[in-house]
Amino acid sequence: MKQHPYAAIAPRLPDGDRLDPRELVQSGGRPVELEIGPGRGGFIFERLGVDPAICIVGLEIRLKWASIVDQRLHERGLAGRARVFAEDARPAIARFPDACLDTVFVHFPDPWWKKRHKKRLVMGATVLEQLCRTVRPGGQVFLQTDVLERAEGFESLFAEHPEFSPLGSEARVAENPFSARSPREHRAIADGLPIFRLHYRRR
Ligand SMILES: C[S@@+](CC[C@H](N)C(=O)[O-])C[C@H]1O[C@@H](n2cnc3c(N)ncnc32)[C@H](O)[C@@H]1O
Repeated sequence: MKQHPYAAIAPRLPDGDRLDPRELVQSGGRPVELEIGPGRGGFIFERLGVDPAICIVGLEIRLKWASIVDQRLHERGLAGRARVFAEDARPAIARFPDACLDTVFVHFPDPWWKKRHKKRLVMGATVLEQLCRTVRPGGQVFLQTDVLERAEGFESLFAEHPEFSPLGSEARVAENPFSARSPREHRAIADGLPIFRLHYRRR
């Protein structure tokens, strides 16, 4: 069988039952953020640039983009603060210890609509249950999508999980408060598409 061209070089997570994202970077006690599905990685570079106090771990299922972005982090001397691993976020987060994450970003996930693609969806009840456990009390989850039905689905899902409450008076926020944008977010803004943003806090 033909091997994926990035299979041999893709950065993979260490084996084992337990996996601490704070040990995947040189966090040294700094807050560690997680981006689920960073794609081309633009958000990670912008975020590192605006907040020198944070570290980020990205979990990206596509071998090619995880490899390219992680390589760029190394080339730019940023690998102590951020890494991207070629992994499915769902089983990976299940290995994280409790209260290890400061903030979780999910930008424009799940662009699949067909019923047969349902099993691919990353942002569902299973991941949210893991976030209830792994985001520290007072930590945050920030989601963005350009699809209203997706935003409404996420709101319904969070409403079933009292561990999270809207950060402000309601979950929907007009702007991204993190001073860093994902590639898809930049494109949606350039194309004049609506962006639905949800911001939650772990109680
Ligand atoms: C529509 S793209 C958005 C990319 C980026 N977040 C942005 O806003 O520009 C969704 C990304 O999520 C990744 N993805 C989908 N399912 C995933 C999973 N189970 N684990 C990790 N990444 C996943 C895809 O490979 C893709 O890069």
